[in-house]
Amino acid sequence: MSGPVVLGIESSCDETGAGIVRDGKLLAHVVATSMDEHARFGGVVPEIAARAHLHSFNPVVREALDQAGLRPNRIDAVAVTTGPGLSGALQVGLAGAKSLAYAAGVPLYGVHHLAGHVAADTLEHGPLPSPCVVLVVSGGHTSLLLVRDLVREPILHLGDTLDDAAGECFDKVARILGLPYPGGPAVDRAARDGDPRAVDFPRPLTRGGDDPYAFSFSGLKTAAARWVEKYRLQGLDVPVADGAAALQEAVADVLSRKALAACRAYDVKTLVVVGGVAANSRVRALTERRCAAAGVELRVPPMTLCTDNGAMIAAVGDLLVRSGAEPAPLDVSIDPSAPLEYASLTPLPTPSARAA
Ligand code: KG4
Ligand code: ZN
Repeated sequence: MSGPVVLGIESSCDETGAGIVRDGKLLAHVVATSMDEHARFGGVVPEIAARAHLHSFNPVVREALDQAGLRPNRIDAVAVTTGPGLSGALQVGLAGAKSLAYAAGVPLYGVHHLAGHVAADTLEHGPLPSPCVVLVVSGGHTSLLLVRDLVREPILHLGDTLDDAAGECFDKVARILGLPYPGGPAVDRAARDGDPRAVDFPRPLTRGGDDPYAFSFSGLKTAAARWVEKYRLQGLDVPVADGAAALQEAVADVLSRKALAACRAYDVKTLVVVGGVAANSRVRALTERRCAAAGVELRVPPMTLCTDNGAMIAAVGDLLVRSGAEPAPLDVSIDPSAPLEYASLTPLPTPSARAA
């Protein structure tokens, strides 16, 4: 007998995603993005994102059902990102998910967005080994996590960025270098013709007394801005390819160094890298090399599951349903700055959850 069919909804930033998962298997995966509408502002505009979710919600859910060949009454549970994220954007997704769950008379699960990123990899590579270290690197997050049973045990937050996220750093420096938005892919492309040793950009928080798992990228952005300014003040052309290659090298070095330090410290043999920045060619290559040298298995989901999507939320929902987790009450609300502790934002009523 096959397990419950779970519909997942994601709307925390500029992607409206709907995904359907059953027994850990992906049945549908549909995403609409409002990225183009934000491009001329150089970053996501919350009101525009919320409005775009409103337009895309129904078509995206309908397409996901079509893709899976299911009628709405075949859905057994709805999972939705309730935080963290942009408040207006989250509200639209949650309101839509509540309506679907209420109309169908099925349980609703509130999911932490970062737990979704972690679960994305299970749709491609199967269940996660316990424990594993997960590096989430996107435009909005840079977090290093220690994950055991994703839906039954607390997720240990090893470190976070103190300021900008890694993707945000790529986007901001790309702008300084005169490259288009989103900056990450543009930096990656430009870096192909550059020399990563041309500029000695700082490696923030990698000195002896520094927090081994915390990140900081705003200093790197300032260093890049100063470097560009030096050329401009002299009326010289900026060697953009060299700047891009050196920036990418610095980010890849810091991310992979800290992720592997965590694997060593916690004696973990699997590193999972998720989020848009996992697409970066240098981040992938350097992490792969360092993992191979350390005897650590590297898991990176395919790109379409790395960026924000509903399938990853459905993947968490599927695990929650199958683990017998308590659904959310229908008056559940969003939590735009939800701390990461449990995958479900309505945790299991275990003694440890009650104490938390
Ligand atoms: O996960 P994602 O699609 O959305 C968020 O949740 O933020 O990540 C988007 C981020 C952007 O900052 C983008 O510039 C970055 O991922 N990115 C890259 C690359 N592709 C996307 N950064 C570096 N190199 C890339 N190839
Ligand atoms: Zn995300």
